[in-house]
Amino acid sequence: MRMVKRWLRRAWAEWRIGLRRKELLAALSAHFGGVRGLHFIYRGDRGRDSIYLLTDATKTLGIMRLVNPHYHKTLPPDWPFQLELQGGQIDREWAAYSRGYVAGLTPKPLWRTQDALLCEYMPYGSMHDTLLQSPEQAWSMMCEGSKALQRLHQAGLTHMDASFANMLKSDKGQIYIIDFEYAPARGLSLAAQRVYDHLRLLESTWKFILPAERGNYQPWLDCLVKCLDDDMRKVDLRPLAPAIDRVMQTPVLGQKIRNLFNSPLPSARLRQEATAGLG
Ligand SMILES: Nc1ncnc2c1ncn2[C@@H]1O[C@H](COP(=O)(O)OP(=O)(O)O)[C@@H](O)[C@H]1O
Ligand SMILES: [Mg+2]
Repeated sequence: MRMVKRWLRRAWAEWRIGLRRKELLAALSAHFGGVRGLHFIYRGDRGRDSIYLLTDATKTLGIMRLVNPHYHKTLPPDWPFQLELQGGQIDREWAAYSRGYVAGLTPKPLWRTQDALLCEYMPYGSMHDTLLQSPEQAWSMMCEGSKALQRLHQAGLTHMDASFANMLKSDKGQIYIIDFEYAPARGLSLAAQRVYDHLRLLESTWKFILPAERGNYQPWLDCLVKCLDDDMRKVDLRPLAPAIDRVMQTPVLGQKIRNLFNSPLPSARLRQEATAGLG
């Protein structure tokens, strides 16, 4: 019943922006030199915005995020990520793609207006689909994901909604990160945002890890430790806790993760402890 209600709300919100879609198609047709036969194919139904493939009769020209003012979503005020208001998510995603593309980490941004953004379409599957097909690879994928997040952080970006659904992997093994819809909560330090990205990736993955595999986290924990700098190790996890509850409640791993943060221990000792499996 909840799913039917959600679908109806979505369909209604989509219908209400029909005119806006037509305006955008006209603007995009002009942008692409008067190309005819442009149309949108609806793609996204997870986040707050509408996501479409933009195609003409022969090829895909890009993928578009359109802010839908009729689809409201609220978040608890104490969460570490928040929704940008009034098209702020377009500014954020444009800035992230502009910087991320140069670093080879995100699709190329192609066009934007105040409520919509078109970026390059990456013809790759999401890592989430890979995880569903091969759940036994979960921990090695977590390592890959954490390394990709570390590269994103080194490029000066944070994500705030890290999940394998937001990571596309090319045939050559290159990971592209998409969907920069959420902003950090006001006052959340850069180091806390970075820590949150890593822990949120685990939070969103945890339920897909086979019960028999859940204890095999050590290689990922080692990977995580290598991603932490001094500022990240000083982070207080409490402001992040509401959105990483599943991970924090995990008896052994949750405690080991807690031990990595906000701790006076020097980094070498932490590394040693994580590797030795103490904690
Ligand atoms: N640049 C892109 N290239 C290929 N597929 C994409 C791209 N951007 C988004 N997608 C696809 O569209 C889906 C929804 O896009 P996303 O930006 O994650 O929006 P949301 O999760 O907010 O609905 C993604 O899971 C992915 O399958
Ligand atoms: Mg997404």
